[in-house]
Amino acid sequence: MDKVIFNGRLTERSQINIDLEDRGYQFGDGVYEVIRVYNGSLFTGEEHLQRLIESAESIQIKVPYSISEMKNLLLKLIEENKLFSGIIYIQITRGVSQRNHLFPSADVVPSFVAYTRELQSPTEAMEKGVPAITLEDIRWLRCDIKSLNLLPNLLAKQKASEAGCFEALQHRSGTVTEGSSSNVSIVVDGKIKTHPATNLILNGITRQVLLDISRKNGLEIIEEAFSVEEMLQADEVFLSGTTTEIMPIIEIDKQKIANGQPGPVTKQLQVLFEDKIKEQCGLDFKTV
Ligand SMILES: Cc1ncc(COP(=O)(O)O)c(C=O)c1O
Repeated sequence: MDKVIFNGRLTERSQINIDLEDRGYQFGDGVYEVIRVYNGSLFTGEEHLQRLIESAESIQIKVPYSISEMKNLLLKLIEENKLFSGIIYIQITRGVSQRNHLFPSADVVPSFVAYTRELQSPTEAMEKGVPAITLEDIRWLRCDIKSLNLLPNLLAKQKASEAGCFEALQHRSGTVTEGSSSNVSIVVDGKIKTHPATNLILNGITRQVLLDISRKNGLEIIEEAFSVEEMLQADEVFLSGTTTEIMPIIEIDKQKIANGQPGPVTKQLQVLFEDKIKEQCGLDFKTV
């Protein structure tokens, strides 16, 4: 597990030094991705790498590698670290330069790092469901960029944890946006609703898989914002995310959602999601 990628090269974790004046360290001036590895294979790897490039370009950082170059590096990293089930964290920053709010000169190269971590699916929570709180969304207006600046997300998650909950469901003046590290959907009369992919949410890769598997399997899913009130009255509420997978929410602000048990649509989506993992990663296991 000790190999990492540092500026395009596979190296020992103990051998790398992050400069004090790396703009990621000082300003959070960079973007990142988390890719799930199942069965030693990348799940939706290209989609994540494409989003990494788009996030970087939207803050004027040019990723110095193509998708296939990055993919090859990541596959080598998985192999070296003998990663079977886990995640790869990838980060790219504007590079190392004397501290100044202005962008550095064009010859400063972006810093690129990637490392792996073992992780299992949160099977018990996925089976039983988890509680959540609601919270005003205080983030900036470019939540579509997977930026390193996560302070409001951290504060939200911490508040959820202190309330004994798994996630904070954020809203802007009563309109639900997303969780602190996940997207949120509701089910009303068999129809799934999730916030449209605007600047107010991260367009989750898991959310995109969800849209795809729902439509292919005859489930109605609409990209439409909903209110906190609608969410509390919904038949089902669930989260989606790379490490969260498809997670039922059974209680919000101490109020039960329907009968307080994971609902049938959420369970069906968990099965369809697992099928998708098997299709891509050849995995023969049950997440739920
Ligand atoms: C704020 C936020 N929304 C949504 C997601 C889910 O995105 P994905 O499915 O690509 O992991 C994440 C994942 O980290 C997130 O941080």
